[in-house]
Amino acid sequence: MFFKTLKRNLMKKILLLGSGELGKELTISLKRIGCYVITCDAYKNAPAMQVSDESEIFNMLDKNKLTKIIENHKPDFIVPEVEAIETQVLLDAETNGYNVIPSAKAVNLTMNRDRIRDRAKSLGLQTASFAYAETEQELISEAKKIGTKVAVKPVMSSSGKGQSYANTKDELKASWKFAIEGMRGNRKRVIVEEFIDFDYEITLLTILEKSGKVSFCQPIGHFQERGDYQYSWQPADCSNDVIAQAQVAASKMVKDLGGSGIFGVEFFVDKKGKVIFSELSPRPHDTGMVTMYTQNFSQFDIHARVLLGLPLPEIKMNRPGASHVILAEKNATGNYSIEGIEKALEDKSVDFRIFGKPSLKSYRRMGIILAETLDKAKIAARKISVLSKT
Ligand SMILES: Nc1ncnc2c1ncn2[C@@H]1O[C@H](COP(=O)(O)OP(=O)(O)O)[C@@H](O)[C@H]1O
Ligand SMILES: [Mg+2]
Repeated sequence: MFFKTLKRNLMKKILLLGSGELGKELTISLKRIGCYVITCDAYKNAPAMQVSDESEIFNMLDKNKLTKIIENHKPDFIVPEVEAIETQVLLDAETNGYNVIPSAKAVNLTMNRDRIRDRAKSLGLQTASFAYAETEQELISEAKKIGTKVAVKPVMSSSGKGQSYANTKDELKASWKFAIEGMRGNRKRVIVEEFIDFDYEITLLTILEKSGKVSFCQPIGHFQERGDYQYSWQPADCSNDVIAQAQVAASKMVKDLGGSGIFGVEFFVDKKGKVIFSELSPRPHDTGMVTMYTQNFSQFDIHARVLLGLPLPEIKMNRPGASHVILAEKNATGNYSIEGIEKALEDKSVDFRIFGKPSLKSYRRMGIILAETLDKAKIAARKISVLSKT
């Protein structure tokens, strides 16, 4: 009884949609400042569920279930952590007076790659040439118009799933098949993009406050393999001109999407220093985990404060740093153990997180190393193995 009163009077109730490693850190940040967090995902014991007050296990693409969960809990804030959510429910919830973070529009437009890309183009941002295809034949004809090498991605997917590059007709056929197998949701649609032979790529963590004020963290450099995040570092070595181009573009995007929260805005930088918008997520970003090491307030602390409408503290970089993923092997499944942490910690600059995922999957991200330089992060990560236990 007492607890219920306390909950109602003091704690903001957060419904977190998605309970992976980013959700786990966000939940910790929210718990530290007194929030009550209900975490949701499709599987039991997901990382964020291990640190939250309550959890709900269901498919967030199921319109009726998601509506019911929102009605049952009546949260003060609905905070998506993944793309695979029935976003019409969030548009309706916002209309009915719920706070969707950063905004239902932002979540709806970023759920699918095509919507956000079209928006970026209409705002005049520089992007790779692109087209969409709904059949193998259409993919082949659209790719021909774009150029020799193209990237092919399902319109709904993340972490590189279903993503590949193609040069020839046969490769395009294989890309079509791979994309359809890797897609999430039920839209048989792919985006086909000009392959950008970039010099490097960055994430610009961009903060939008309720007042409309926009601010930025230092740019984060990152490296991806199989379309999936491998390591990142902050600050990225960008010229002032590159930073200025990225800030102008990111600011346009987040102001258009509206609301409050932190956004991960991804850019390619070509060899001439031209900044090309790639994609945007309206929430903390995997490459931004490095901020747990480098900044006085991490991307999770920032998101937590800004979504609650609290004033943003001064964000400073305390030190440069890097992060490196700890991955499961290609064919991994089932139970596991993580070995070698003691060895990695022989370097006194090293810190780490283990996400506590219940089982292995192919290349699944199981943890992260944080260190003061990229070399140190790579060396520490090499000392760690994720072993299958049968
Ligand atoms: N058009 C492209 N040209 C070159 N590399 C690309 C292109 N599109 C994607 N990539 C590479 O694949 C990575 C993942 O692609 P992205 O569109 O960000 O997908 P995800 O939503 O899975 O993160 C990028 O960070 C980049 O390294
Ligand atoms: Mg990306």
